[in-house]
Amino acid sequence: MAPEGQWILMATGRSPTNIAVIKYWGKRDEALILPVNDSISVTLDPDHLSATTTVAVSPSFPSDRMWLNGKEISLSGGRFQSCLREIRKRACDFEDEKKEIRIKKEDWENLHVHIASYNNFPTAAGLASSAAGFACLVFTLGKLMNVKEDYGQLSSIARQGSGSACRSIYGGFVKWCMGKKDDGSDSMAVQLADEAHWNDLVIIIAVVSSKQKETSSTSGMQNSVETSPLLQYRAQTVVPSRVMKMEEAIKNRDFASFAKLTCADSNQFHATSNSVEYFYWQVAYTFDAGPNAVLISPNRKTATLLLKKLLYCFPPQDKDLSSYLVGDKSILSDAGLHSIEDVEALPAPPEMKIPDQKFTGDVSYFICSRLGAGPKVVSDESQALIDSVTGLPKGV
Ligand code: ADE
Repeated sequence: MAPEGQWILMATGRSPTNIAVIKYWGKRDEALILPVNDSISVTLDPDHLSATTTVAVSPSFPSDRMWLNGKEISLSGGRFQSCLREIRKRACDFEDEKKEIRIKKEDWENLHVHIASYNNFPTAAGLASSAAGFACLVFTLGKLMNVKEDYGQLSSIARQGSGSACRSIYGGFVKWCMGKKDDGSDSMAVQLADEAHWNDLVIIIAVVSSKQKETSSTSGMQNSVETSPLLQYRAQTVVPSRVMKMEEAIKNRDFASFAKLTCADSNQFHATSNSVEYFYWQVAYTFDAGPNAVLISPNRKTATLLLKKLLYCFPPQDKDLSSYLVGDKSILSDAGLHSIEDVEALPAPPEMKIPDQKFTGDVSYFICSRLGAGPKVVSDESQALIDSVTGLPKGV
C-alpha cells in the first residue's frame, strides 16, 4: 500500500463540442435542465474543437478545486455540484495493484478532486465550450471513479452540467430526447449515426468574435420562455416533425433536406422567419446564441468553392493566412490558396451584387472541421494537465 495520504490518482479525457442542427431552446425545468423539445447535433472533430480534462484524487486534497484554462474557478455552482454528486453516487471499488491503491465504493464520498480543464477553442463565445467541458468532466470523473454506467446514463448526468453537453457524449449525429418524466431520468442523448456514416461533410466556422457572449444561453432562454409566444408553438408543433424529417435526412445522407431543415431551424430559433426560398441548399448554415456562423458543406469540392468566396468577402486583416484558417488547413491547398497573394487575387463571387465590397477584419478567423468521434481517454500521461507529484495544474 502507498503511504497513507501520499498517493495521487489521475485520469485524463478529451471530449468534442457539438453544433445543434435542430436547436435546444427553452427549459421545462431549470434545475434539472430539462428541455421543451428534442434536439439534434453534429459532433465535431476533437482535434479542432474539444475540451481536455484531467481529474486527480488524493487523500491529501483538503477540498474540491478546479482550474479552467489555467485560472482557478469556483466549483460551488449547482451545475458542477450536480455532476460531482451524481458521479460520486455511482463510483465503484477501485484497485491499482502496481501503485498499491485500493479505494472502496463508499470511500469516494470523502475523497476530494482537483480538476484541470483546457479548451482548444474560445471559451463561452457561442461555440458550445460548456458542452465539451461538462461532457469531458463527467466522462473523465466516471473513468477515474470506475463508474459502470452506460453512455445514456452518463449523458443524463452531463445534461445537468450544461444541457447540450449530453450530446457531446457521443460522436457523429446525436439526438437529445427531451424525455417526459419529472425527475429527468429519461432525458438523455442517443447516437443516430457515427462519424463514419457521412464523413464527406465539411464544417466551416466563421469565428466573428471570440469574446465572451454578452447574454448567457441560460438567461436568453429564460427570456424567450417568458416573452416569446413562438417558443411553445415551435416546441410542440414545429420541432417534432422537423426532428423526424432530420433523422430521415441523416439516414439517407440527403443533403438538400438536411440543409433545408438546418437553416429553417436556425432561422426560427432566431425568430427571423426567413421564408424566402432563394437558397439552393448547396451549403447549410446555422447560428447558435453567439455571433459565429457555422457552415456545413456536403463535400470537399463545395467546401473549397465556399472557402474561396468567404476569403474574398472576409479577407484577413494581417498577412498571416495560416493563423486565419485553423483546424484542417489542407483545404487551403485544395483551394489553390498558398499565400495571401493568392487570396488577394481571388475573383469576386459571380452572385455578389456589389463585387468590390469586402469586410476586412469582420471575421477573426475560420475553423475548418468535420464530424468527429465521442469522448476518449487520453492514456499518454505526459498529456495530463495536473502534475502527478504536486496535484496542481502544470505550470501554476
Ligand atoms: N465551461 C466552458 N468550458 C468548460 C470546461 N472545459 N470545463 C467545464 N466547464 C466549462
